Amino acid sequence: KILILDFGSQVTQLIARRIRELNVYCEIHPYDVDEKLICEFAPKGIILSGGPNSVYETDTPSAPDVVFNLGIPVFGICYGMQTIAKQLGGEVVNSGKREFGYAEINKLKSTLFDNLSDGANEEGNYLQVWMSHGDKVTRLPEGFEVIAETDSCPIAAMADTKRQIYAVQFHPEVTHTKQGDKMLGHFVLDICKCAPSWTMPNYVDEAIAKIRQQVGGDKVVLGLSGGVDSTVAGVLIHKAIGEQLICIFVDTGLLRHNEGDQVMQNYHDNLGLNIIRINAQEQFYTALAGVTDPEQKRKIIGKLFVDIFQHEATKLDGVKWLAQGTIYPDVIESAGSKNNKAHNIKSHHNVGGLPETLNLKLLEPLRELFKDEVRSLGVAMGIAPKLIYRHPFPGPGLGVRILGEVKPEYVQLLQLADNIFIEELYKSELYQKVAQAFVVFMPVRSVGVMGDGRTYDYVVSLRAVETTDFMTANVANLPFEFITRVANRIINEVKGINRVVYDISGKPPATIEWE
Ligand code: XMP
Repeated sequence: KILILDFGSQVTQLIARRIRELNVYCEIHPYDVDEKLICEFAPKGIILSGGPNSVYETDTPSAPDVVFNLGIPVFGICYGMQTIAKQLGGEVVNSGKREFGYAEINKLKSTLFDNLSDGANEEGNYLQVWMSHGDKVTRLPEGFEVIAETDSCPIAAMADTKRQIYAVQFHPEVTHTKQGDKMLGHFVLDICKCAPSWTMPNYVDEAIAKIRQQVGGDKVVLGLSGGVDSTVAGVLIHKAIGEQLICIFVDTGLLRHNEGDQVMQNYHDNLGLNIIRINAQEQFYTALAGVTDPEQKRKIIGKLFVDIFQHEATKLDGVKWLAQGTIYPDVIESAGSKNNKAHNIKSHHNVGGLPETLNLKLLEPLRELFKDEVRSLGVAMGIAPKLIYRHPFPGPGLGVRILGEVKPEYVQLLQLADNIFIEELYKSELYQKVAQAFVVFMPVRSVGVMGDGRTYDYVVSLRAVETTDFMTANVANLPFEFITRVANRIINEVKGINRVVYDISGKPPATIEWE
């Protein structure tokens, strides 16, 4: 396994992603983590990430000495390279201007670049890389040699092969560095000699053993939402401890069409999970009556969910653990370095505030996994891929897809319309081609004509976006003929809706959800 020490780069998570994709386990820890933890983790190699600081400023982060004393391979990226240079006796200066963007590295001379090429020139093979730095190494530490250069950066990469310390000024973890994943592969597989054995089918047994050892004969309670994370956590824990796991599924009345029944059928009837379904629809509708402000709606839904969950959980006898579907990105975001406490706060929209009030120990069996790994784990355990590869669904559910006041009548219209849209996406094999798709309900009515009669009915909007990170998004380029088919079906089949529009806004300036 590989240890990644984080110096605060925006893309440190990507290093971990790339390494996990090589089927090698790795963890990210802040650069100032306890030396004891580093030794106990017993990595086969250490990667030092990039970061926003300059090594020649005072009090800048540096790698713990133990990194260079363990006798294992070390790989520095950007700031990681600069701190290696400084700590081992080289020199780093501010180059006066930031170098940002594509560069070609030449005169390649290292295992890191073995058999890699994006083309050749008079210097031999070159590689296209992504640079983002203001400082650069100008004098090598003792024992190092230059292993790549660019036009503006004569020491673009360096290595001390005897001590197995490698460093690059560019970012191999971003996809702009075309062969970056292979460079990381050379480091992790060839230099550190890690075995590519971290796969989800392999991981199932290990995860089960860990849960059994952790909880012993205790009872565990889990809030099952039907979403991927809580579901995979539930199925995994159920495999480990069977009936000792009690799932509470709160039907808020703001779920997708028939979703409550489907959750019960899939996970209770088919997979045998012990699930208590709480039909809280009326409670949610009552709490939301007359409320139109989006933030207020979110708060009401969140609080009521917690209250109901808590009420039900306290009714259970002898429960010692609260299970949560926390995944690795949440863990990394809330960890942060000791010198960067500001990052320590993260508000969980799932079941925030529960552990303290319920006085339960936390069980988080997915806290080492990225989202794609959670999905493969789910598939490896036999959950239907259709359930695992579903689009995200917001915590407040249809509550934020009905503009303004939520009324049961609107919920029903929206569920039917949304169901048609999703059904058609599957039929046309477009579902997996968009990142998220749903229908939004507008509480305004427009005039239409159906048969010989006048209608005066509600308007809905189709929303479909393409995005990878959900931070920015573009409208999905769905075929016009497809959109009109969906619109026709909705207008014909859902009595009460006579007009369908397609939301073509991007994010920013719009958001994906409408509220
Ligand atoms: P926005 O609307 O902010 O949505 O562009 C970005 C992504 O986040 C989802 N979303 C939520 N997910 N609880 C959640 O679990 C929420 O309160 C929430 N609000 C938005 C949204 O569906 C989209 O995928």
